Order: sequence, then structure tokens, then C-alpha cells
Amino acid sequence: MAIKEEVLQYLRKSTGDVSGEELSERLGISRTAVWKAVNALREEGYEIASATRRGYHLLKEPDRIDAEDLLQNLDTQFLGKEIQVFKEIDSTNEEVKRQALRGAQDGLVIVSEEQNGGKGRLGRAWNSPFGTGLYFSFLLRPEHIPEPLTNATLLAGLGVARALRHVWGLDAKIKWPNDVVIGNKKVCGILTEMAAEMDKVQYIVPGIGINVGNQSFPDELAVKATSILIETGKPVKRSDVLLAILKELDKLFLKKEFPLKEYSELCVSLHKKVRYTRGLKSYTGTAFAIAPSGELMVRSDEDGTEIPISTGEVIVQGIYGQNI
Ligand code: BTN
Repeated sequence: MAIKEEVLQYLRKSTGDVSGEELSERLGISRTAVWKAVNALREEGYEIASATRRGYHLLKEPDRIDAEDLLQNLDTQFLGKEIQVFKEIDSTNEEVKRQALRGAQDGLVIVSEEQNGGKGRLGRAWNSPFGTGLYFSFLLRPEHIPEPLTNATLLAGLGVARALRHVWGLDAKIKWPNDVVIGNKKVCGILTEMAAEMDKVQYIVPGIGINVGNQSFPDELAVKATSILIETGKPVKRSDVLLAILKELDKLFLKKEFPLKEYSELCVSLHKKVRYTRGLKSYTGTAFAIAPSGELMVRSDEDGTEIPISTGEVIVQGIYGQNI
């Protein structure tokens, strides 16, 4: 174990102050090595008080995501049996795809503290600064891909909404197909990518981005974005959020059934005016149901016909401060 880790573990176990001398003797290292380790830990965000004569005291740990810690607390059957945590990466979706090509196992989870090329839907970027959000993706091989495959993205949104509701009591709902919202504002976005050969799907990669520790958003985003911290009013550990979501996703993808009733009850797009695009034209209507195969059913304002919408952007009256 690195000296820094040893010092950290010793400080964690100690209830009171620990002198530099005690650390140096017990760990068999020099006083300078102790001092260097404490400084390195401080740089990583650990708050360590120090007083002359009395010594060091660990006050607060940063919210870091640690693979060992995750594996010890993970309660799933297939999802996340292998978890890799990166400090920085281009995009967790890209990393899962790279590893899938090299034969990675079904259920692999990739998490990163930061993404420098985070991707959103419809070719947009997903801002992914260090430490505030949760950014992860996972690999599903055919055994765990639902039918139709487009329902995978709906299941992913449902898993996130369930976890936020059950564990933190938040009124999390879903804007079809898979944005998770709390009171008209987005807290989570999902981008699902797939690889297929002829007519056989090889694997899919749902990627989930959640605003966790953001204290506020710039003016232009504040009307449409929120975070778990803003909604609960207290800091939440990102690894706890990840574990709770993986548990729900594991159940959903093991079963592979689409819980239509539950999804419909949580879907904020229903019974609202919506704007959708077909071809190059934009139309309005009222969303009235979710089809068992996952489409959003809309009654068109133009002639009252029932239109199944399966892709593209749907604007919902009132959500994200948008008007039809
Ligand atoms: C959206 O609402 O536009 C979808 C956003 C998806 C963002 C997540 S963050 C983890 C994963 N890696 C990415 O590059 N994108 C997804």
C-alpha cells in the first residue's frame, strides 16, 4: 500500500489527534514522509486539521468514487461485477465501446470523475466537470437486451428515477424517452449507443449522466437543470447514487420486461401538449399513452390521428421552461 494510503487509513481509525511522531513510528516511515503524505491528501480534497504538539485529525473526506469501495457494497447479480473508475476520460460510452470490441463481459461498468469529451443526445456535448456529476456507462450483451431494443433506454431512465425516489424520496419522473426530471428540471440524461451486424445486435451501451453535487447552474441553464444537492438540500455521495442506480438497473435488465404501468405513471410527457418532428416538419398534439413497445402515442392537433413517436426530440409544454 502507498504511504499516503497508510497514513489515510491510520487517520481514519483514530478518533482523536495523531502526532506526526506516532504516525512515523507506527508506520515505520520518516516524519518528512508523513508530512508529504498529509499534504498530498489535502491536495486531493481531504480536510486534515493540524495543531502543533497535538498532531493531525481527519475532518472530512472528499466525495471520491473508488472501485474497491463500490465492489464491496454492490448488491447486483450481473451489472457491475467488473467496475472500472477513471479520473479522466474522453467519454465513458466510448471506453465501454472500446472494451466491448476487445471482448469485455456483459455488465461491465465504466465510471469517470470527469469526461473531456462527454456526449449528449443529438450530437450535443455533455458538460462533465471533475467531481460534481456522476458519469457512467455499461455494457449489455444480447442476454440482457430487452425487446424491442429501444426499450433499453426507457428502462435505464426508469432505473434512475426509481433509485432517486426510493433512496432519497425525490419526486423524480421521466420525460419520454429517458431524461429524468424533478419538478420540470433535468437531473439526468441518458445516451444509449449500439453495435449491430446485419440484423443482429451485438451489444448496447447506455451512458448515464447525473447532476449530483452542483450547487447552482449558470442563468441560461438554471431554468432547466437541477441537481440532487439542490433538491435534497444536503450533500449526497456519488458512489451511493451509483450503487442505488446499479441495483435498480440490474433488476430491470435481468427481467427485461417493460413495466408499462409504472413507466406511464412516472412519465411527465403524458397528458400534455407536445411538439414533435416528422420528416422536416414540426407538429403539435397531446401525448396520451406509452405503447407497450415504448413509443410515445400522440393525438395530432391537425386531424386527431394517433401517431406513434419513436425517435427524435419531443418538446413538452412546461418542461424545461419550454412552451409549445
Ligand atoms: C442527454 O441528455 O443528452 C444525454 C446525456 C448523456 C451523458 C452521459 S455521461 C456518461 C455517458 N458518457 C457520455 O459521453 N455520455 C453519457
